[in-house]
Amino acid sequence: MKQQYIQDFDQIEDGQVVTVKGWIAKIRNSKTNHFFDFRDGTGFTQCVVSLDAVGEEQFEEAKRLTLESSVSFTGTLLRNEKSLGGFEIQVTDFEIYHVADGFPITKEDKEHGVNFLEERRHLWLRRRRQWAIMRVRNQLIQSIHDFFQGEGFVQMDAPFMTGSACEGTTDLFATDFFGDTAYLSQSGQLYAEAMAMAMGKVYTFGPTFRSEKSDTPRHLSEFWMIEPEVAYATNEDNMDTIERFIKHVIGRILRVCEKELAMLERDTTSLQQVVSEGFPRVSYTDAVKILNGTQEVNGKNAIKLQEEDLAAAKQLIEDSNKEIEERQTAIKAGMKKGARKHSEGIISNLQAAIKVAEEQLRNIPKWIESAKNFQDGEDFGGSDETVLTRVFSLPVMVYNWPTKIKAFYMKEVEGQPEFVKGVDLLAPDGFGEIIGGSERETDINILIRKIEEHQLDQDDFEWYLDLRRFGSVPHAGFGLGLERLVRWTCDLHHVRETSPFPRRYGHIKP
Ligand code: 4AD
Ligand code: MG
Repeated sequence: MKQQYIQDFDQIEDGQVVTVKGWIAKIRNSKTNHFFDFRDGTGFTQCVVSLDAVGEEQFEEAKRLTLESSVSFTGTLLRNEKSLGGFEIQVTDFEIYHVADGFPITKEDKEHGVNFLEERRHLWLRRRRQWAIMRVRNQLIQSIHDFFQGEGFVQMDAPFMTGSACEGTTDLFATDFFGDTAYLSQSGQLYAEAMAMAMGKVYTFGPTFRSEKSDTPRHLSEFWMIEPEVAYATNEDNMDTIERFIKHVIGRILRVCEKELAMLERDTTSLQQVVSEGFPRVSYTDAVKILNGTQEVNGKNAIKLQEEDLAAAKQLIEDSNKEIEERQTAIKAGMKKGARKHSEGIISNLQAAIKVAEEQLRNIPKWIESAKNFQDGEDFGGSDETVLTRVFSLPVMVYNWPTKIKAFYMKEVEGQPEFVKGVDLLAPDGFGEIIGGSERETDINILIRKIEEHQLDQDDFEWYLDLRRFGSVPHAGFGLGLERLVRWTCDLHHVRETSPFPRRYGHIKP
């Protein structure tokens, strides 16, 4: 029989007979019914095998179905609001493809712990949350292409094996290239610059590699970067493009991934704001003042906000503990099963909220210290970005950065060589930098000096310097880290969940 897909159930009339092929995601048995949570890759639904409908022999046969067994079900499709995915199949026939061995992932993610799951990434990918994240990632990729293609950019593939460093020499993966050293690409930017001189507007979309020994929630060793580059563009044009771009992709996700975001329990209020409100732009110099509390934004003081958050976290812990105690006393005194279950659910939510607040209690005092003592001229750390964006609650563009902390190719600000025309986009709610970009230096003499200052070999960059010898033009571009965008969009604690098979410090398997 022809196979139907769960994603198309909306278009199928109630009472029609359908056949679905997939896997068992959850099992509940009673004397007369087997209830299966079922997934076919396109979605999740419920399949009910009842003794009445299939008879004794088939009913016994269905008992062989274990978690993650593969099976096709045929039966009547019914709309059922209470059922998983809003539908239910009343099974009349089924065919078992494979009875799975004991599937290792049986409990809630948080009960297994994330290390256990990461070691079983190839199986973890089947779970609902991971399914939702990968669907969002897919839609983000599509919308990124839509945006640039729609604006007349030409997609280009930059090489993965490179002979020269783009973002400094400290985090390169080296490999052997017929006896010479080649590096896995840190960025396609320099090649995109060359291509922009041929095509006007280009963008790369490819893997990039960084060997930073950073085991943080935002660092991967291999990640996908999108790097647009535009001839005759300034850093102001760059910022305009960044804003249109982010509004476009987030807007699309809100429209087409409603179901996935709901599965992830993603509160979309702040994403709606991203689509409808202008992104603040602040210079690095002002950002430093905002960070250490000497400059306010619309009456908001960064340090005071953190102090308020700290006080709120303390209050939350106190209130929650009190409520837990009251509920536990009431449970002990005796309660109907339904009411008890309800109360236990609330207690477990309160306990989870306490955990989050306790982490804030540990972190915020350190963040305040770091923000207050921030040295003008240094790079922002992760917590500094959190403190800064908290004041805005929108993505913030920080521009005109200190020359000494940025890459060699960034254009110096006229009359202020201690600053370069770089821009970082910092996502709100602690997600931090998701885009880094700049206007590029066009003065060949400044570039040659910078290459030397950065202890790079000029020979490696002669081809790049040619771009300034033959029809040099002002140009600008930026790089977006796909996994960081997915992490922010889905509101994930760690970037490891954003990639099908993440490669990060200390983790190369599976
Ligand atoms: O700021 P970065 O290093 O900028 C560049 O590579 C420029 N060549 C881009 C350009 O102007 N064409 O990296 C750009 C973005 C960051 O903002 C971040 O989103 C992501 O790449 N990124 C990482 N993502 C995950 N793990 C890492 N280790 C990352 N390093 C950078
Ligand atoms: Mg950067």
